[in-house]
Amino acid sequence: MWEWLLAPMDAARDHNVGWHLSWHARIMVLAWGVLVPLGIFTARYFKIAPGQDWPQTLDHHFWWNTHRICQYSAFALMLLGLWLILTAPPMATLPGPHWFLGWSVVALGLVQILGGLFRGTKGGPTEPGPDGSWRGDHFDMTPRRKAFEYLHKSAGYTALLLSVATIFSGLWQANGPNWMWLTLVMWWGGLIGLSVVLQRRGMAIDTYQAIWGPDPKLPGNQLKPIGFGVRRIEQQDAPIHRAEHKPTPGQ
Ligand code: HEM
Ligand code: HEM
Repeated sequence: MWEWLLAPMDAARDHNVGWHLSWHARIMVLAWGVLVPLGIFTARYFKIAPGQDWPQTLDHHFWWNTHRICQYSAFALMLLGLWLILTAPPMATLPGPHWFLGWSVVALGLVQILGGLFRGTKGGPTEPGPDGSWRGDHFDMTPRRKAFEYLHKSAGYTALLLSVATIFSGLWQANGPNWMWLTLVMWWGGLIGLSVVLQRRGMAIDTYQAIWGPDPKLPGNQLKPIGFGVRRIEQQDAPIHRAEHKPTPGQ
């Protein structure tokens, strides 16, 4: 059993990786195997934080801070992992799809960061414009904000799926030991299982409602929510002025 776990995936090949490649792999797994999935998981299921008295208290920043901390650090780690592999001495690894998959994930990661940075203004009571009005790309769900949400969600989930294939193909080409892919399968399996439970509990709440409440008069609540399986709560009796607002830039 232990022998099998420690043995390389392909017994016919060596698992002889140098310092650059082993750190490339560890850092990329931390970035895309751990931080990115955790950041997405929190953004999807914790828009309303545990214990938050929604809709009396709106716009909880738990998901927002976690998402940015996870995704920015994953991006920085990815650049480090990339630098390591680009400066690695020539290696005797199997050729395969990893090169193409790896560069696609790098490109999509860049799209996500740029999309996040150029998503536009927030608006609403917590980030009013210079004239004091509540106008803002998110509050008004302008075409810019809609484009951000469609692009960010589709590119984000595509990157997540591709990163799984990238990690497995990298492990295969470098002929990593069996315990590595087995641990990753258990970790991803656990995350998928937990996502199914939280999805069934209706915790994938629409961002707009989580931030500004369910008042149907608000501009964003008159539109179809963006994204698959996103829940909108039908509630007529929680007017926005009852909520506590403090200036909180972002989202
Ligand atoms: C590697 C980088 C990133 C990836 C892979 C990523 C991925 C995602 C995904 C898949 C979602 C949708 C979650 C859901 O189903 O509700 C999401 C939501 C979001 N992300 Fe990111 N993200 C990244 C970086 C960023 C950055 C840097 C920012 C902002 C500075 C950002 C801002 C947001 C916002 C505002 C939402 C909520 C969108 C909405 O529900 O309307 N993301 N992200
Ligand atoms: C999502 C995570 C990962 C990304 C984004 C990624 C990205 C990349 C990129 C862009 C290259 C090509 C560099 C060049 O142009 O020469 C590369 C090469 C390589 N990576 Fe990764 N990598 C990831 C995870 C891994 C893992 C977990 C391993 C496992 C040991 C690994 C092993 C390799 C190997 C063996 C090469 C050289 C062989 C080849 O280019 O086909 N990578 N990686």
